[in-house]
Amino acid sequence: MASSPVPAYSVDMTDVAEDLSAPNPDSFTAMEHGTKPQWEYIAKSINHYNEGFVDRIMETLKELEDDASGFAVNRLEHSLQSATRCYRDNKDTELVVCALIHDIGDMLAPYNHDQYAAAMLQPFVSEKYHWMVAHHGVFQGYYFFDYLGLDKNMRDQYADHEYYDLTQDFCHNYDQNCFDPSFKSMKLEEFRPALEEIMGNGPRKSIYKK
Ligand SMILES: [Fe+2]
Ligand SMILES: [Fe+2]
Repeated sequence: MASSPVPAYSVDMTDVAEDLSAPNPDSFTAMEHGTKPQWEYIAKSINHYNEGFVDRIMETLKELEDDASGFAVNRLEHSLQSATRCYRDNKDTELVVCALIHDIGDMLAPYNHDQYAAAMLQPFVSEKYHWMVAHHGVFQGYYFFDYLGLDKNMRDQYADHEYYDLTQDFCHNYDQNCFDPSFKSMKLEEFRPALEEIMGNGPRKSIYKK
């Protein structure tokens, strides 16, 4: 006698050996029909995918090499110079990672690239560095906005903010001066341990964290 089909929700899918990256035929077609085992399997699959998070950051940073937009160095080299200067000045690892990531949004968020990078970093870094990265676009404007008909003192709106000095210092010493073709920057791969330490061990804070 043929046994009756086992409903998907009764299968302990966490014990099934399968390709965690492949579409799951036992999953729901609408979230409103989802079950606990299905969501446990999804959580397991997401954790598996997130094991490649640092690799994906590295690959995305490499893509910054494709464009210089009129600057003397390409966007990856600019990022490496920024991170290298922080590293050589013995800044903490969080700041080194912020420097490496700070312009990663140039490709997909050209009109708010500072906020893009800040959103990536927020689960992993302190509030002060998150604010610094989120506002570095405005602060960086001090060096060129007037040439483009904008207010170079736009940053003054934050003059009383507790992270004003930090952000001003970052832009002056680790951003606006990082377009030097003769600068000997560290290689991207040399920053992998820093990325692993700060962004490779799960978030400090997240709505998905218990
Ligand atoms: Fe930037
Ligand atoms: Fe920059």
